Amino acid sequence: MFEWYQRYNHLAEDIKSLITKESEILIVGCGSSRMGEELYDEGYQLCTNLDSCSVIIRHLQEKYKDKNPTFRFQEGDVRAMEFPSDHFDLVIDKALFDSLQCGESAPKNTHKALSEISRVTKPGGVYFMVSFLPGPALATQLDKPEYHWTVSHSKIAKPYLANKLTLNPEDKNTPKEHTVVVAKKKETVMEEGEENK
Ligand SMILES: C[S@@+](CC[C@H](N)C(=O)[O-])C[C@H]1O[C@@H](n2cnc3c(N)ncnc32)[C@H](O)[C@@H]1O
Repeated sequence: MFEWYQRYNHLAEDIKSLITKESEILIVGCGSSRMGEELYDEGYQLCTNLDSCSVIIRHLQEKYKDKNPTFRFQEGDVRAMEFPSDHFDLVIDKALFDSLQCGESAPKNTHKALSEISRVTKPGGVYFMVSFLPGPALATQLDKPEYHWTVSHSKIAKPYLANKLTLNPEDKNTPKEHTVVVAKKKETVMEEGEENK
């Protein structure tokens, strides 16, 4: 198991303030993170985990088969998801958006992913993202009319700094925080063009 950026316990209070035990949760690019399991163990049990890696998904389906059917693992591409529109109360993305930022097709891939995440989120629901990118740069990418989000961002200390174990204390250019983005989908979603009328 490997955990990118932040463990559940560092984010738990923020996440739990956004949901109830009846909330439908989607974790995109779940990898082998324990985020879903820890949410489940705290009673947030309607949780779908999506990843494009078939090996990870098969492994996790077997590992967590006792938590079925509400704790689900599905192989799939965040850029073209099979879930219905307006379905999830919360979509969690820890380090997936960042991995889509790599390569020549990054603008196209991130746009497809953000469009899909917005589509599957209920009006009033939230896209919760943890990233190594600075908050203002993320807000510029997310705060677009086509995604229908109200975007806010904050910083969270990188865990090794919180534990006072700096990898390279001399390196003043390395950001000491990750960014947490909360993008709340507007209750009333206007069709394209309507917003300019
Ligand atoms: C950097 S890892 C983060 C894993 C996990 N969220 C964590 O915090 O430890 C990114 C994950 O996204 C998955 N991934 C990459 N591109 C994807 C895509 N287009 N659709 C779904 N998952 C994808 C990868 O297989 C990988 O498991």
